[in-house]
Amino acid sequence: MDIGITIFNHILLNQKLNPGATGAFTRLLMAIVVAAKVIQRDVAKAGLVDVLGRAGGINVQGEEVQKLDEIANEALKRLLSASGEVCTLISEEEADLIEIPRQYNRGNYLVHFDPLDGSSNIDANVSIGTIFSIYRRVTPPEMDADLKDALQPGLRQVAAGYVVYGSSCMLVYSTGSGVHGFTLDPTVGEFILSHPNIQVPTKGKIYSINEGNYGYWDEGTRNYIEWLKDPNANHPKPYTARYIGSLVADFHRNLLYGGIFLYPADLRDPLKPKGKLRLMCEANPMSFIMEQAGGLATTGTERVLEIQPTEIHQRVPLIIGSHDDVKLYQDFIAKANG
Ligand code: AHG
Ligand code: MN
Ligand code: MN
Repeated sequence: MDIGITIFNHILLNQKLNPGATGAFTRLLMAIVVAAKVIQRDVAKAGLVDVLGRAGGINVQGEEVQKLDEIANEALKRLLSASGEVCTLISEEEADLIEIPRQYNRGNYLVHFDPLDGSSNIDANVSIGTIFSIYRRVTPPEMDADLKDALQPGLRQVAAGYVVYGSSCMLVYSTGSGVHGFTLDPTVGEFILSHPNIQVPTKGKIYSINEGNYGYWDEGTRNYIEWLKDPNANHPKPYTARYIGSLVADFHRNLLYGGIFLYPADLRDPLKPKGKLRLMCEANPMSFIMEQAGGLATTGTERVLEIQPTEIHQRVPLIIGSHDDVKLYQDFIAKANG
């Protein structure tokens, strides 16, 4: 690949558009870029060294922790803390707000992250990812950051992004002025702008959902999926199903090709419907990016970015993708709900 705009240059260009910028945000993003390269290195050698398989623990979500999860979590904590630009961090892998070690400066930003997304796919060499979501703190700088900082609605995100560790390594991010994708050139160790101004097609042909959960979906979701598959329905031809089981990879494909990803609420216990994906480190950053790319993100009845969070590890239904597909899904839900 010819070296064009590196991610560093892209971030600097962005900074110039913002006259009040101090460089703090650039330093923060660059810490994430370095963490992405560190994680990519460890993902790439996962089969060679003993990092495959489970670490033996159970994380705060009650799931088994994979070794790469821990490696990715530590890399992000270390590099973000050392940037001097964060007041706290919130990781999918840790129950509480992470305190920044005293030797580092405290900054005005905080980052929610899913260090390793799609961890059940690691051992099979299937694409996995990292997701991040950045906010400005709202409490005074002299205080320790607290839940008021951590529990801001997604609309307040300053930036969000993800890294896909796939056939190549890509970083996609948005600071609220479009969505831009960079591909890692491993020979020079730089992320190079490869996908400027990504726009999701208004309507797609792909649907992505774990259909094994059919029996636990609400009526509106069932009707919608039946309609997508019906050759006699009023659409050109049945949609195509694609489901990897790594949100980052499923999302990335649909962002480029158009389509809809659904993880609706599970009604196993009809009195307590629950989503699987986490609002702060999965649904919000992906929704921010999807809206910036011209798409939509909803729980079925509510715009994801408008949800007022109540817990850092809150889970929500997530239906996200091409504008027309998500709109139609919402119509099915509204109809089923009367
Ligand atoms: P994580 O690996 O961070 O726990 O996330 C897994 C998530 C997400 O990546 C994916 O979309 C979803 O779980 C898949 O869930 P199912 O296996 O239930 O389909
Ligand atoms: Mn995840
Ligand atoms: Mn994870």
